[in-house]
Amino acid sequence: MKLNIALLAGDGIGPEVIDQAVKVSDAIAKKFNHEITWNPALTGAAAIDAVGEPYPDATHDICVASDAVLFGAIGHPKYDNDPSATVRPEQGLLKMRKKLGLFANVRPTFTFPSLLDKSPLKRERIEGTDLVFLRELTGGIYFGEKGRRDGGETAFDNCVYTRAEVQRLAVKGFELAMTRSKKLCCVDKANVLETSRLWRETVQAMEKDYPEVEVSYEFVDAVAMRLVQWPNSYDVLITENLFGDILTDEASVISGSMGLMPSASVGTENALFEPIHGSYPQATGLNIANPMATVLSAAMMFENFGLHEEGKAIRAAVNSALDAGFVTEDLADGGKSYGTKEVGDWLAKNI
Ligand code: IPM
Ligand code: MN
Repeated sequence: MKLNIALLAGDGIGPEVIDQAVKVSDAIAKKFNHEITWNPALTGAAAIDAVGEPYPDATHDICVASDAVLFGAIGHPKYDNDPSATVRPEQGLLKMRKKLGLFANVRPTFTFPSLLDKSPLKRERIEGTDLVFLRELTGGIYFGEKGRRDGGETAFDNCVYTRAEVQRLAVKGFELAMTRSKKLCCVDKANVLETSRLWRETVQAMEKDYPEVEVSYEFVDAVAMRLVQWPNSYDVLITENLFGDILTDEASVISGSMGLMPSASVGTENALFEPIHGSYPQATGLNIANPMATVLSAAMMFENFGLHEEGKAIRAAVNSALDAGFVTEDLADGGKSYGTKEVGDWLAKNI
């Protein structure tokens, strides 16, 4: 297969982890006879520095013209403590999601056999955990009207959802549940929020179209609690943008390191693959960041093209590296660790 991939390395450790995913993907291409063309483009603080805005039109054009986007991370500390900055790297990410129509953010949480004792949770609580969040990504409070009134003394962020936005996300949830254990949990706050009542009503009306799927409805606060008690009791969860942002960070550490979890953001035309972690500025250039989340994001990318053997080969290489203790310092418990680049080389060699 010929694949044209937009390569958005972004900020901080982004370029370092992206390099490893490229290396591993190229090894996959060689082994399975694919041809990958990488199309690099600017985003985040790197793009602000170069052209004054975090998601330039030139980058958007490259993303649209490509078959998928592989993304590193964005964010730079110089913007974090400056609420007055009007151009911020994160705006690039939001603009990109919106302009590419990436309405569904797929965030899996699973465990690795050799890391069961590295989790902040006890082994017996996490064994068998294999869940997927589908977070709505282009609506809700992130994109509602926001502003100030009363001379700046009052601030507001509106949360708005349409039935159609809920439906298209829920369709993905039901379809994913059908390929897994046929359990779907709709996470909301329907005891308080009108938008949540629309979510619940919409999903309830769709149940008849998927009679095999067992649907549960849970409040977001209760899910936050059960996620750390019995994460292995969940399968597919669907939720709105902000709840999904928070819960997926909570879920991402269950495996033992946030540096392990991949994600996909998909719409009807485009798809983007990125690690769940951020730009980890303190580690920039130190060759210590864990590249596995980005490498596993590349696995999700291959799987999204229907290339399941390729995805499996990447997952197997990551599992072997973990079993062999060929890991970066976040997983080394003070023992022997390897650099970002060395882990990437090892994975590419073991494809
Ligand atoms: C994420 C990030 C982003 C979000 C930020 C960087 C805008 O936290 O991808 O989860 O809140 O969506
Ligand atoms: Mn987040």
